[in-house]
Amino acid sequence: MNKVKAAVFASGTGSNFEAMMNCKELACEIVLLVCDNPGASVIEKATDFGVQTFVLNPKAFKDKHVYETEVLQVVRESEVEWIFLAGFMRLVGPTLLNAYQGKILNIHPSLLPAFPGKDAIGQAYRAGVEVTGVTVHYIDEGMDTGPIIAQKQVEVLPEDTEETLKYRIQKVEHELYPEVINQVVRMKRLWPVE
Ligand code: GAR
Repeated sequence: MNKVKAAVFASGTGSNFEAMMNCKELACEIVLLVCDNPGASVIEKATDFGVQTFVLNPKAFKDKHVYETEVLQVVRESEVEWIFLAGFMRLVGPTLLNAYQGKILNIHPSLLPAFPGKDAIGQAYRAGVEVTGVTVHYIDEGMDTGPIIAQKQVEVLPEDTEETLKYRIQKVEHELYPEVINQVVRMKRLWPVE
């Protein structure tokens, strides 16, 4: 049976994208990478995996609606049912949100609602917390907000540097995201839940 199709939206390195692609049991097929940063190394990773890429510079568009309309067209042409944000450093606006309501997930490297936004690992490290972690959630119009699906704790060790903490957090991300994707896709769990 054909798997449902999904797109990954990313802006940077793409280690989460890679983890999804390397997950043999992933319940959906990643058919498209949308990237808003023409210099991002995730683009090369997608090309190596043979995944179609759609790279665009949002600044080249009149406004967010025009830019998202373009993205929406490509996503629909690829028959994408799910969108997974993986280091996509841009707020998703109403054009995409309304079209894919309850079908867009995000991963964030903290125990939300703590430390939203950029550099969540650095924020937690500098705050001196003993425990941080990873969150997977449905998105809404906010920054790293929306109903939480799963969280996993990561202990901050006394000997940790920001780099070692980042390494352990991302290791957890690479396991947790495919796991949650499979649960959500298989159960067709929509949000808002009826
Ligand atoms: C990941 O740690 C992800 O959780 C984070 O960006 C990193 C991307 O890494 N996302 C956010 O901070 C979203 N607010 P990757 O490009 O190697 O997957």
